[in-house]
Amino acid sequence: MASLSLIPVLNGNPQGVFRPGEIWPDKNGVAINAHGGGILEHQGVYYWFGEHKIEGQLGNLAMVGVHVYSSPDLFNWSDQGIALPVSCDPNSEIAPGCVLERPKVIYNALTKKFVMWFHLELRSAGYTAARAGVAVADSPTGPYHYLGSFRANAGVWPANTPEGDRKALTAEETALVNARKFHGGPFPNFPHALLWRRDFEGGQMARDMTLFVDDDGTAWHVYASEENSTLHFSRLTDDYLRPAGDYVRVFPGEFREAPTIMKREGKYYLFTSGCTGWKPNPLKVAVADSIRGPWIDLGNPCEGSDDEQKTTFSSQPTFILPLKAKGADHYIFMADRWRPDNAIDGRHVWLPLQFRNTHPVIRWHESWNLNAFEN
Ligand code: GAL
Repeated sequence: MASLSLIPVLNGNPQGVFRPGEIWPDKNGVAINAHGGGILEHQGVYYWFGEHKIEGQLGNLAMVGVHVYSSPDLFNWSDQGIALPVSCDPNSEIAPGCVLERPKVIYNALTKKFVMWFHLELRSAGYTAARAGVAVADSPTGPYHYLGSFRANAGVWPANTPEGDRKALTAEETALVNARKFHGGPFPNFPHALLWRRDFEGGQMARDMTLFVDDDGTAWHVYASEENSTLHFSRLTDDYLRPAGDYVRVFPGEFREAPTIMKREGKYYLFTSGCTGWKPNPLKVAVADSIRGPWIDLGNPCEGSDDEQKTTFSSQPTFILPLKAKGADHYIFMADRWRPDNAIDGRHVWLPLQFRNTHPVIRWHESWNLNAFEN
């Protein structure tokens, strides 16, 4: 068994030390405000995109937009402002008071554009819209131009469903689905075999999401669909602006959300939380030889106390950052410790992710730095 050799740095230079869960000031001394975020590495610079939250419960709605920071070293972050502001047009889909979550940005080498996707809920409609929003920019920090939102893959059947099941709901099935009250989580006899058929025409629900670009440049939008019960992996068009009309259902009926994906030695790893709103729950990881699956569950990669394992160190995943510049096999697990009563006070939890053979392992560190990977 390969040994894990993380050496936490307890008294390091605060400029060079990650302190998971502590307030993390940017270069102006202001707490970094980029939640549910992700990182784009472009030409040697890291760009951190995330939800800008304001104080109180109102901060759970999008009142400002998507914040972006840049850094050469992952510790010192310069505030680059609001990459995608909410719109001042009250009729816009992204007017203040909408829900704009988990923004992720990827670079398209063909079009030379930076493409942002996010989960969008329309103002005053709770979480019922379940749409994907897309915005595009010529430079990593923006400004991003909002292109619009949609439910995914309208009129397209999932590739990994039997031909015989690809049909509209019967009147009886429709009545059964309509009689249920969906609240984002599981309930007994959840009709998870019916929802992708219900949503065939109008498009599939798209909530918690990530983007993943494979080695050959193929990009995937991975989102919690079917009332959060099932993940969809949806290939994007070559310009990354739309679904290509090719998607698969993954872990049907398992209520996995907050997906994030990484690739190592030809294998894909999918990290997900369970589905308990802002409250943390156990992390799960799955592995596959093809991004289309089959995905094999590897259980909980968190090691530590019961409580740490049950709550993913009091956090929910948002992104895995491979440290390409540092050489192989170094990854950072990024997560959010949500504070829904005072959203702006949500904390960033970054931890080193290592491998024991082909099994990822995450352990708590009060503080650590990148030397942790070098021993
Ligand atoms: C979480 C989800 C967050 C947010 C929240 C709202 O499960 O991961 O992004 O949508 O629910 O309750």
